[in-house]
Amino acid sequence: MKINPGNPLLPLRAVVLHKTRETENTFSLKLSLPDTRPVTFQPGQFNMLGIPGIGEAALSFSSLPIGKRSFVHTIRLAGNVTEALSRVSKGDRVHVRGPFGNGWPVQQAKGKNVVIVAGGIGMAPLRPVVYYLLQNRKSFGKLLLLYGVRSEEDILYRDELEDWLKSGEIKVLLSMDEKPRKGILGARQGVVTTLLDAIDVPLADTVTFTCGPEIMMRFVARQLIIRGQGGNRIFVSLERRMKCGTAHCGHCQIGAKYVCKDGPVFAYADIKRFADTLL
Ligand SMILES: Cc1cc2nc3c(=O)[nH]c(=O)nc-3n(C[C@H](O)[C@H](O)[C@H](O)COP(=O)(O)OP(=O)(O)OC[C@H]3O[C@@H](n4cnc5c(N)ncnc54)[C@H](O)[C@@H]3O)c2cc1C
Ligand code: FES
Repeated sequence: MKINPGNPLLPLRAVVLHKTRETENTFSLKLSLPDTRPVTFQPGQFNMLGIPGIGEAALSFSSLPIGKRSFVHTIRLAGNVTEALSRVSKGDRVHVRGPFGNGWPVQQAKGKNVVIVAGGIGMAPLRPVVYYLLQNRKSFGKLLLLYGVRSEEDILYRDELEDWLKSGEIKVLLSMDEKPRKGILGARQGVVTTLLDAIDVPLADTVTFTCGPEIMMRFVARQLIIRGQGGNRIFVSLERRMKCGTAHCGHCQIGAKYVCKDGPVFAYADIKRFADTLL
């Protein structure tokens, strides 16, 4: 069910249940809708979060639904809206429209190995995918998470990464632009594509989900294709300026596709032909 099934342009007021500082410039808001209808959404979908008088920003869910009415967004400071959101406190209200978009096609990955490649804040929309895969562990083959950050201070969800690593259910590999200190989740120095060598599953039986800067996703997709993975099983999440979220304003259009409605998740094979994207 939609957060606002009546009119997707009309925001609902959500209450801030909890605010967590994740890194120097990133924080998470746990929000709850004061409504009796259960909130449902898929990993990879997004909300438009707004502060009256300032504006709205597209933000992916960084959790699965929590109970009937709560969810989390992890937000990196970028400009006016994200800065205004960083000033809210427990008990404050923010405007929410959504959920929008299609989400990661986790059903298509059933019975297959899953490789997740995240760069920076791109870990946020992929965290609910990891939750989902671990909750439904038996439905999938081997699971690998390759995560690239600039420095140790930029690692998101560090405690969870350590738990996942210890669980043995998912292989977790970290790369860092800066030289990592010894013992930081076994991090290697370099960009995230250097971790692709560690993929130890046949790519023909694998689905890849990747989110991060477009240039990173382009290199990830190209290298995986060279190594034998089909572009129709590599899924990327695109970022475009969003306004309506409902395929009406045209702000997010790429060729004939609306990122807000047809995406933000696309098979690489479907999107790479559009000349106006980096992909
Ligand atoms: C589907 C989707 C999901 C997203 N999920 C998250 C998330 O989970 N967490 C998160 O922190 N951010 C996410 N973003 C990015 C987020 O929407 C922007 O950072 C935010 O809108 C910036 O708003 P602002 O008013 O704070 O900054 P602005 O003042 O609007 O922008 C600050 C700077 O960022 C650039 N910028 C802003 N938005 C975009 C964009 N969409 N694409 C390229 N450049 C942009 C501007 O050109 C400017 O240079 C997502 C974006 C999309 C489209
Ligand atoms: S945000 Fe308006 S068409 Fe996509």
